[in-house]
Formats: sequence, C-alpha cells, structure tokens
Amino acid sequence: MRRVARVIVRGSSRGVALGLVVTSLACLDGEPTPPDTEPMLGRAPSHAAGRPDPQLVREGREIFRYDTFGDEVYWTDTLRLHEAVETAVSPRTALDVGLKVDVDALPQAVKDALAAGAVDLDDPATTLALLELDAVLGLRGRVEVQDGAQRLVSLGITCALCHSTVDDTFGPGIGRRLDGWPNRDLDVGLIVSLSPALQDADVQAVLSSWGPGMYDAYWNLDGLNDPTVIPPAYGLRHVELETFTGEGPISYWNAYVAVTQMHGQGSFTDPRLGIEIIADPDLVTPKLPALREYQRSLDAPAPPPGSFDVRAAARGRAVFTGAGRCVSCHVGPAFTDANRRLHDPAETEMDPLLAERATTGQYRTTPLSGLWHRAPYFHDGSAATLLDVVEHYERVLAVGLTAQQRLDLIEYLKSL
Ligand code: HEC
Ligand code: HEC
Repeated sequence: MRRVARVIVRGSSRGVALGLVVTSLACLDGEPTPPDTEPMLGRAPSHAAGRPDPQLVREGREIFRYDTFGDEVYWTDTLRLHEAVETAVSPRTALDVGLKVDVDALPQAVKDALAAGAVDLDDPATTLALLELDAVLGLRGRVEVQDGAQRLVSLGITCALCHSTVDDTFGPGIGRRLDGWPNRDLDVGLIVSLSPALQDADVQAVLSSWGPGMYDAYWNLDGLNDPTVIPPAYGLRHVELETFTGEGPISYWNAYVAVTQMHGQGSFTDPRLGIEIIADPDLVTPKLPALREYQRSLDAPAPPPGSFDVRAAARGRAVFTGAGRCVSCHVGPAFTDANRRLHDPAETEMDPLLAERATTGQYRTTPLSGLWHRAPYFHDGSAATLLDVVEHYERVLAVGLTAQQRLDLIEYLKSL
C-alpha cells in the first residue's frame, strides 16, 4: 500500500499537540454502547443514547450547512473554480450536475418568478444571484460589483454539499433541505473537473470516471481511483465508528474530511496515514463538538406510508433474524455490530481495495436505517437494488431462501 508521508504546517505556530486533540475527541465520542437488542420493525427510539444538546445542535447545524472552514483558499485561490462557475454554470447546468436549491432561502418574489417560469435558468448570472442568497446547498459564494458588473469573487464548499439534498417540492432539485441525506445526484468529479487549474488529462480522466453520488475520499492522498457512494450522515447516534471501513468516531472523520478533502484551514494528524497538518488559526477543531452533536441529532428518515407491505415486512423480519442470518452482523438499534468488531472483506465477499487503502483493513457492517431511499448499496454501489443485495448474500452466505422469503426480506429492508 502506498502512503504519502507529509508534514504541512500552515500559519505561524507549531504548538498544537494534535495527538492529544484526537485522543480527547475519541473520549467525547465514547457514548455508552447500547445493548444488542432484537432488530425492530421501524426505527430505534431516539432517547436510547442520550438526547443531543439543543444549543449545540443549533450551532452544529449552522456549521454543517454554511461553514467552509476557510476552504476558499483552495477552491478559489488554487482551483479558481469561481471563474468557471461565473462564466459557464447556469442554474440548469448546476441542477444537471446534482446541485440543489434551498427554496426557503429564496425571497417570495423569486419563488413567484420561478413558479411563473420567469427566471432565466440558462444564464450564469442567475447562479450568482442564487449564490448571493445562500440558496445553493453546500456552496458559499461571495458576489461583488466590479466595474459595474456582478463578479463571483470567492467560492467555498460546506458539508451540506455532499450530505444533504432537497425534497423537490418546488421542482426537480429545488425544495426544502434534507440534512444528512446523501446527495446521490451530485457529480462531484464533474464539478471539480471544471477547475481551470486541473486540466491535466490524467486528473480529468479520474474526475470524469466517478459519476453521480460517488466520491473518493483518499484519491488526493494515495492516487488510487476507487470511489465510494456518498453515505448518509444521519442515523449515527448509536454508531461509534464511522465510514465504510470504521476509521474512527464522528469527529475524527469530520476533521479528516474538513482538512484533507474540503481543504479547510484546520489541523489534522494521523500517523497511520502519514498526515500531519497543523493550522494556526485552526478553523476546524473548535467546531467539531457542535458539528458532531448535529449529526447525532439526525435520525434516518422513516419510509413514507404505503411504501412497503407491512405484513410482508413483519414476515421478512423473521427471515432477517432467522434463516437469512442477517442479524449476526446487523444487530442492535442501528443494525450494526460496529461498536464491537469490523469484518474482513472476504467475510461478505466485498471488493477489498477500499479496506486496504484505509487504516483498518476491514469493513464496518453498514447501519441499515433509511435504506428505502438510498440505492445503490454497498460501499462501491455494486448492488443497484435491494434484490441485488439479497442475491449477493444468498451467494456468499449460502442461506438458501425461498422466493417468498426473499420478497419478504426485501419488504422488511424497505421498512427500516
Ligand atoms: C465531497 C463530498 C463530501 C463532503 C464535502 C463531505 N463528505 Fe462526508 N463523506 C463523503 C464520502 C464519500 C464518505 C465515505 C467515506 C468512506 O466511508 O470511506 C463520507 C463519510 C462521512 C461520514 C461517515 C458516515 C458513516 O456512515 O459512517 C460522515 C459522518 C460524514 N461523511 C460527515 C461529513 C461532514 C460533517 C462533512 C463536513 C465537515 C463532510 N462529511 C463533508 C463525502 C463527503
Ligand atoms: C458477516 C457479517 C454480515 C452479515 C451476516 C450480513 N451483513 Fe450486510 N453488511 C455487512 C457489511 C460488512 C456491509 C458493508 C459492505 C460494503 O459496503 O462493502 C454490509 C452491508 C449491507 C447492506 C448495504 C447497506 C448500504 O447502505 O450500503 C445491506 C442492505 C445489507 N448489508 C443487508 C444484509 C442482509 C439483508 C443480510 C442477511 C441476508 C446481511 N446484510 C448479512 C455485514 C454483514
């Protein structure tokens, strides 16, 4: 495995003992492990692991939605993405690449104009207006008038870019925010490939290979191209180890992404990855507790009424705990044994590459709540449907289900 050893010191002070910061975050995340219980039809009660603190949750929501951690230094100064957005990205293009518009950020006059078809969706100037209103999920733009013209002078990204979407109530890609939902329409690679600073053919080839809903959170470190689906950032209150490979608790991973992927101005050190980045001032670390609390407050969305067959799901629950043997790993309120163990890729015959690139060498049993809305499945999106998931397990675990049991199990999975 290739590791890039790097020490990057930003700013003037070297005085931050990151090892200590990471240790104390691990303690912060050390919630009591809920006892393994029988899986439930429906979701875990939200009081099971202690109520999130409302004040911290409010702060965390602001950070999750709007905080760039100063990453404009990268997206604007280095990648010059603002130049491409200003000239070439109309609202229609933005929606086509999976960006979402927050209808609650729009003044009534703009909503009326949109509804009347009176907004020019083909004019990049409209995109600037939307950015000025803070209406594009996960993008922060600063617009200034220069020489009588509106110019986009800086652009940054927030967590909401990948981990939220909208309910489409106003139209495709336009609606109310759904924080924590993965944006499976978002073509991150295509958006980044617009950067005038990244026109190298090899880089372009990688970025155009990812496709909607996929991102590679290690590529800029190890150069391998093996993207994962963007996972939800909800339903994690009972889950002590995050990411597909169980890299660490919420705040560990939030710091990793904010610093190494979003390029926020913050500190992150992990000797396992050979990374030591020290920033002064550190715009990430002080925000991690509130950000974590917000994620802990996000429950997986319940399936819409009528979206699954209740009686079949009840039978499917018995398959899940019985003949299907799913409960031997998908256990407890979050349907995962992640608080106790991880699994070798061979146990469930997963492609091993991501596990090898990450620090644990193993996969975490994925929490299952919210499955109904987030196909495709498995870390690499290799199962397009829940039927594909069940067929995968029938092959790997040789569980031998009848056709009826299979259908019932799928209805149960849709109910979680
Ligand atoms: C460019 C897209 C992108 C951005 C921006 C992003 N993430 Fe992620 N996030 C991902 C991907 C992809 C993964 C899966 C990585 C893996 O498992 O190896 C992930 C994983 C996670 C997980 C783990 C989920 C689980 O089931 O364990 C959490 C929590 C999370 N991100 C929160 C955040 C927060 C908070 C921010 C802002 C600081 C953020 N992410 C920014 C793409 C993104
Ligand atoms: C040996 C442990 C184990 C058993 C048994 C097991 N799983 Fe899994 N499950 C995992 C692991 C590990 C993953 C993550 C794999 C990945 O993403 O590459 C996973 C992922 C999944 C996912 C994908 C979730 C998502 O959002 O991507 C579903 C659905 C699922 N399992 C359902 C089942 C069902 C149904 C059964 C029983 C037929 C079952 N599992 C049995 C360990 C297990």
